[in-house]
Amino acid sequence: MSLFFKKNKVKDHLKQTNQKNKTIGLIPTMGSLHPGHLSLIQSALKKNDSVWVSIFINPTQFDKKIDLINYPQNLDKDLELIKKISDDINVFIPSKFEMYGEDTVAKVYDFNNLDSELEGKYRKSHFNGVATIVSKFLNLFKPDNIYFGEKDYQQILIIRRLIYLEKINVELVVCPTIREKNGLALSSRNKLLTDKEKNNSSIIYKSLIYVNKNLKKLDIKSIKKNVVDKIEEIKSFQVEYLEIANAQTLEITNKINPQKTYRVFICVLINDVRLIDNILVN
Ligand code: PAJ
Repeated sequence: MSLFFKKNKVKDHLKQTNQKNKTIGLIPTMGSLHPGHLSLIQSALKKNDSVWVSIFINPTQFDKKIDLINYPQNLDKDLELIKKISDDINVFIPSKFEMYGEDTVAKVYDFNNLDSELEGKYRKSHFNGVATIVSKFLNLFKPDNIYFGEKDYQQILIIRRLIYLEKINVELVVCPTIREKNGLALSSRNKLLTDKEKNNSSIIYKSLIYVNKNLKKLDIKSIKKNVVDKIEEIKSFQVEYLEIANAQTLEITNKINPQKTYRVFICVLINDVRLIDNILVN
């Protein structure tokens, strides 16, 4: 495992690798790694000569200071986990100054309304922050493949749009959501939950399954209301949104057109901890 803290060192190293015509795979993360992240790394190892993991808690994508302050961090453990997978992985751990200089601001993008609903509606300018940092990484590494998890489905569409807007030549590889045995999608934020809250959070995935099973039989608005009420019966659980949206445009709907593809999206707040998940409607 090789560690890099400076962009210039990365550039020097990449120059040497590029001369050898090697393919590069990049996995951007905010650290606090779990098997979800590791599955992306495994996938990259299968397809690329050279694999880079970035660990950077990107300040511009946090609209609430408390969320940024509370974001879990454990670099030593992260490096241990990466090393266990392979010794042949490069890890980029830049400082805020290294990525942003004096101005920690996000660029403003036209996401063609992909950011107007779901996460975008509740986290103003979140996706401008995500796209800004991913654009910086894409320009630095110029990877052949970049890896993202389906858990953050809206983020994938945003990055696809970014790649289109900035005419970047890269393949976006989408990896399936890795879950706990009880169905809870793995997330760095799960570390902030008590054991009881974590157990209770299995209702999130169960709710998605329930909605998917019933939305062609029952009225969608009443399914959503029943599910939200049931979740909110649990102490300190609050549903920020539960929506069915077009899988390409993210337009929200309460009526299914059998010709189109949809996903069910949910966000549950447990005190200050935001958990999101989504599944395909089938
Ligand atoms: P982070 O939340 O650390 O996630 C890094 C990558 O891991 C994302 O592509 C995310 O979708 C994926 N991931 C997280 N949990 C997963 C799970 N349970 N199964 C499969 N994949 C999972 O997403 C970010 O960081 C940031 O927004 C980032 C893209 C790094 C930009 O700052």
